[in-house]
Amino acid sequence: MTKPHLLIQLDPDQHASVFDAVVAADSGVDHLLQYHGVQIEQVESLVHGAIFTRGPADLHQTAIFIGGTDVTAGEAILDAVTASFFGPMRVSVLMDSNGANTTAAAAVLAAAEHLALQDTRAVVLAATGPVGSRVARLLARQGSHVTVASRRLDRAQEVCDDVTQRVEGAQLSPLATSVEGAVEAALERADLLIAAGAAGIQLVKLDNWSHQPQLRVAIDLNAVPPAGIEGIDATARNVMLNQVACYGAIGVGNTKMKIHKAALRYLFQTNDQVLNAEEVYAIGQDILSS
Ligand SMILES: NC(=O)c1ccc[n+]([C@@H]2O[C@H](COP(=O)([O-])OP(=O)(O)OC[C@H]3O[C@@H](n4cnc5c(N)ncnc54)[C@H](OP(=O)(O)O)[C@@H]3O)[C@@H](O)[C@H]2O)c1
Repeated sequence: MTKPHLLIQLDPDQHASVFDAVVAADSGVDHLLQYHGVQIEQVESLVHGAIFTRGPADLHQTAIFIGGTDVTAGEAILDAVTASFFGPMRVSVLMDSNGANTTAAAAVLAAAEHLALQDTRAVVLAATGPVGSRVARLLARQGSHVTVASRRLDRAQEVCDDVTQRVEGAQLSPLATSVEGAVEAALERADLLIAAGAAGIQLVKLDNWSHQPQLRVAIDLNAVPPAGIEGIDATARNVMLNQVACYGAIGVGNTKMKIHKAALRYLFQTNDQVLNAEEVYAIGQDILSS
């Protein structure tokens, strides 16, 4: 008899995310087991509960989803989960705390609809957050030249260093947005602008981006007014402004949701997948090309 698909939701928040639970239900998960307030030292016994209950041949019918709002805690849980596996005793795991992986993947895939990312010149504003740093990493992996922007040069440099360690040959330049005219100068040479600033924070004025000669795509991931990129509505999805294809957070959200659901379904194909930013991006490429 085929075993039901069990998804184990590990969430460091006080309440396990309702959003993550609804997406699991809509992705065809048969049973969702939710654990909230998860601490690192509890992870091993939770994982043992998942891997010692079904035989190796059935372990692909069990999977783990790491969610919640705290991306740093989510990354630590992911490390603890994978450290608890051994030999064939493992289940597939998807990490998407605060939607960071699926959102970054959806944004980069929206850009890829218009640009060959190899050698694209990209500016990522607020590239230090969980979403922006993943956007920078995914773009670098596709061969883009990425300007990693932050209010503080040292924080931009930290992201550059992290991406350089992960992506061989990454082409990155840090940029301090606090330097007057620095963003405008970077945008003059850019094909792609992605703003990944905190909710409700405007990062760039209309006049500073909408007449740049080379810019072809602008994507704002902040859904809370005012827009992160002034002039882009949150619902924009390939809306042309001058020669620039514009996307807002809700416009990108449709693809993000498709990727999230597809990634959950992928989990149940085999018991050995670890789906983080790059793997989630590959799933997005797969579903958009089919
Ligand atoms: N569409 C979706 O489904 C979806 C899903 C997840 C997230 N999001 C959105 O994506 C965006 C990025 O998410 P995140 O979690 O990475 O964001 P975050 O960590 O809250 O903030 C990202 C960056 O914004 C900058 N920032 C923070 N406060 C600022 C201020 N007062 N003024 C100027 N800059 C400020 C900081 O960069 P520096 O300090 O380096 O300047 C920070 O690292 C958010 O707007 C979030 O709501 C959308």
